[in-house]
Amino acid sequence: MPTLPLIAPSILAADFARLGEEARAVQAAGADWLHIDVMDGHFVPNITIGPDVVKALKPHVTIPMDVHLMISPVDSFLEAFREAGADLISVHPEAGPHLNRTLKQIRKLGAKAGVVFNPSTDPSVIQWMMDEVDLILVMSINPGFGGQSFMASQLRKIETLRGMIDATGREIHLEVDGGVTPETARQCVAAGATALVAGTAVFRGGPDAYAGNIRALRGA
Ligand code: DX5
Ligand code: ZN
Repeated sequence: MPTLPLIAPSILAADFARLGEEARAVQAAGADWLHIDVMDGHFVPNITIGPDVVKALKPHVTIPMDVHLMISPVDSFLEAFREAGADLISVHPEAGPHLNRTLKQIRKLGAKAGVVFNPSTDPSVIQWMMDEVDLILVMSINPGFGGQSFMASQLRKIETLRGMIDATGREIHLEVDGGVTPETARQCVAAGATALVAGTAVFRGGPDAYAGNIRALRGA
């Protein structure tokens, strides 16, 4: 059983010219998952990476690849990301017309299915389909860019979702993404988070700092 909270460094904050090396470095530094932010310049106002980059990264790590899709429409790309090596695939409810169908498709492909909550998205969106969910990801920023400040307004949502998860009796990870620092990490864990995404807070200071940065976040 790994120590909670799980830490998922976001490669969005890595050196893009040395992605494989960066992925290996955070794994060696104690990362539990590798978080990969996929953006299409349409669902969010930024463009990042596609399935080919996920595929290129796969042989560099043994930890699960936690792929956060900020693309719309999303359904037609699920298979490509799964084939590229995504172990967890998370989607925004706003990214397609049928969230339930999308989650079933992710599981059918053999990946864990995650739902991502924008700051304005209400927990009720998954109220009638908790059985289809393996991971819940709460955005504590508006998606699109790293380096933004944590929105404390999302802590109550984390608490609410914690209650919904506990009521199922199932193991569903509750992950927080955006502006996570050792300070805000503590608040997230107190609210019920079990996994933390961090870009800036892991990659700052370069490779020699990664292990200490991850320890500081986990110390939460
Ligand atoms: C933003 C991404 C985040 C981002 C977090 O849309 O989903 O994963 O990389 O970056 P930090 O930790 O710097 O806020
Ligand atoms: Zn993310």
